Amino acid sequence: MRLAASLAILTAAGGLASFGLWPNSPGPEWQALRAQFSDQQWARIIRTAELPTPNDSTNGVFHDEAAFVLGRALFYETRLSGNGEVSCASCHDPALDWSDGKALAEGLEEIDRHTPSLWNSALNRWQFWDGRADSLWSQALQPIEHPKEMGGSREEVAKLVLNDPELRALYTDAFGSAPEQMDEPNNVERVFVQVGKALAAFEGRILTPVTPFDQFVSGLQTGDPEDLAALDPLAVEGAGLFFGEARCHLCHHGPLLSDMEFHDIELPRAGAPEPARHGGVAKLLTDPFNGRGQHSDDVEAGRERLAYLNRAPHQRGEWKTPGLRNVARTAPYMHNGAYASLDEVLAHYSTLSDAPARSHSDTQRVLEPGHFSDSELQALKAFLQALSSPPPHPSLLPVNPKS
Ligand code: HEC
Ligand code: HEC
Repeated sequence: MRLAASLAILTAAGGLASFGLWPNSPGPEWQALRAQFSDQQWARIIRTAELPTPNDSTNGVFHDEAAFVLGRALFYETRLSGNGEVSCASCHDPALDWSDGKALAEGLEEIDRHTPSLWNSALNRWQFWDGRADSLWSQALQPIEHPKEMGGSREEVAKLVLNDPELRALYTDAFGSAPEQMDEPNNVERVFVQVGKALAAFEGRILTPVTPFDQFVSGLQTGDPEDLAALDPLAVEGAGLFFGEARCHLCHHGPLLSDMEFHDIELPRAGAPEPARHGGVAKLLTDPFNGRGQHSDDVEAGRERLAYLNRAPHQRGEWKTPGLRNVARTAPYMHNGAYASLDEVLAHYSTLSDAPARSHSDTQRVLEPGHFSDSELQALKAFLQALSSPPPHPSLLPVNPKS
């Protein structure tokens, strides 16, 4: 009876019926869980199901196997850097969930940003904390030439790829042919861009395997008692808070648990807010490697995405909402590595006691202190821990580990 009633409500709300999945004969476990969540919480939870398949039409080799193999070699290649010692994996280490375990990144020098994990980065709408890249391939070109990260140059990268016999063979597999002459700027730029596109083909497969939470969500849809048991009661309570009263879902929703947008969550800071998203939009619009530029394989699609980008003063201090899959394993947290643990993150959301003083011009107050009890904090943490997946697939690891 309870089920029939819920179904009627959901259908009336135009909601869940369209998900098409409903247990045939839901058992007592399912019934008990269903009773714990409001229809809205339920719908939000179901909406986290199933990662979409990433795609990028501005990168013609995004799904290409040979580009993936080249990209994997390049990802672990320290010779892309100026001093021959730094690779993408130096900071995005698969053994550390594609991050580095540090508050702030360190390449040739320390950088004032925390290294994000690359899990599911192919599903990001924008790349970087300030969103200054619109594709994985254009993103990848920046750290290579950043003086503090890898300190390399497009000329040296093109030379390496075309002169090293192994890389040249992989390049030819992926792109059909390799230019003989690389002294022409056009060739240099083309090879550099292809390097980015191959790296993106590799990163496109760094997708989180099924987590206990996914198993639970599947159980909610099928009624399978084993799947429903994948979350313990504390984590179930945490899910209820996250998608309900604690209002985390306002920004962390959908399969990545991110709205893919930018917000100021009032982290402690000294002085005025940084340009953040405001600066990121400006850089993206003038990036010669953006999706509407001459190196894009789908200029039309690139144009369309950028056409809706606006710059507004409120974007200062706004950073990208990170996805939360595997978050329990990727401390420290935030764009500036401000918090060392999930407990510290949750304490911030609970009290906002370390937030900068608010001025009268702050009209956009999305965040209010959650005032969580100790047991609510534990429940939220248990939920975040249930978003942990198995480790990366072996095909993503270096083929010949060098150390
Ligand atoms: C010195 C450490 C370091 C190296 C080396 C490095 N990265 Fe990063 N990576 C970072 C940091 C720090 C950020 C965030 C920077 C920012 O947002 O301004 C980042 C951001 C990213 C992002 C965006 C993820 C997101 O969620 O927005 C991707 C993708 C990425 N890096 C891939 C790569 C690739 C590919 C390479 C090699 C070509 C590489 N990185 C080399 C530290 C590094
Ligand atoms: C107003 C939007 C918003 C709300 C509401 C919100 N978050 Fe966030 N969250 C963000 C943004 C934006 C960041 C990154 C901020 C930064 O780095 O400056 C973030 C970062 C995080 C991080 C760190 C992730 C990482 O990899 O660094 C965690 C964990 C987190 N949020 C959990 C939560 C929880 C739990 C709640 C509910 C209590 C919540 N968030 C509510 C927007 C939000």
